[in-house]
Amino acid sequence: MKRQTIVAANWKMNGSFGLVTEMSQGLADLQLANDVSVVVCPSAPFLAALTDALEHEKASEHISVGAQNVSEFEQGAYTGEISTSMLQACKVQYVILGHSERRSIFKETSTQVAHKVKTALDAGLVPILCIGESEAQRTAEQTETVLAAQLQPVIDEVGIERFSHIVIAYEPVWAIGTGKTASPDMAQATHQFIRKFLADIDKDIAAKTPVLYGGSVNAKNCEALFSQTDIDGGLIGGASLKVDEFKVICSAA
Ligand code: G3P
Repeated sequence: MKRQTIVAANWKMNGSFGLVTEMSQGLADLQLANDVSVVVCPSAPFLAALTDALEHEKASEHISVGAQNVSEFEQGAYTGEISTSMLQACKVQYVILGHSERRSIFKETSTQVAHKVKTALDAGLVPILCIGESEAQRTAEQTETVLAAQLQPVIDEVGIERFSHIVIAYEPVWAIGTGKTASPDMAQATHQFIRKFLADIDKDIAAKTPVLYGGSVNAKNCEALFSQTDIDGGLIGGASLKVDEFKVICSAA
């Protein structure tokens, strides 16, 4: 069974209304196979502008907009937070959750990430759940323990069945923004572990859940990564800010 392939752009705290226009115009002529989706995740101030610009350019329905975070709370006195209903008002369909930068810099715990995943699912958004180990954990051969510890709270919170509406992104922290991409073999072995971890609970869910790779993906290495059996696309940071390079990566999926 062919899983959905997804190429998602994580602009992080970068971009502008100019890039919104440039990206929507650049993606307007992107031809995608039926089982390939593209998700562009700008910072919150650009979400509505991007959905409008993609509609204006009549871009493929396989191209969606995602957010980079969402509040675990639905409404109220939570200064600075953004709710699922606000994302829905911007016609956002996906939301990146548990990114390593949220975990390390903003101290998000796996329990908090699990609550956010539930809130997103309950609102009909598709979480892109990020997991990944640090260099020290990889060196200490703790990768599988770390990934399991990041996945289990989400399984406990929402149940394995709801993974049918979740996308997982494996992002080795030591590969993010460093230019040090995991080798296709290493990435495949880790994706295979993630899929087996899910399959030990529910084989059908494991077979259907897209698992993306993120960490210094670029136009040169994307094909070798995306051709791996258990890699179902990528979560792209720096390279997604360059329209032409991002289009090359999307076309490789
Ligand atoms: O979420 C994707 C991001 O963490 C990867 O960043 O710049 O290494 O592609 P980059």
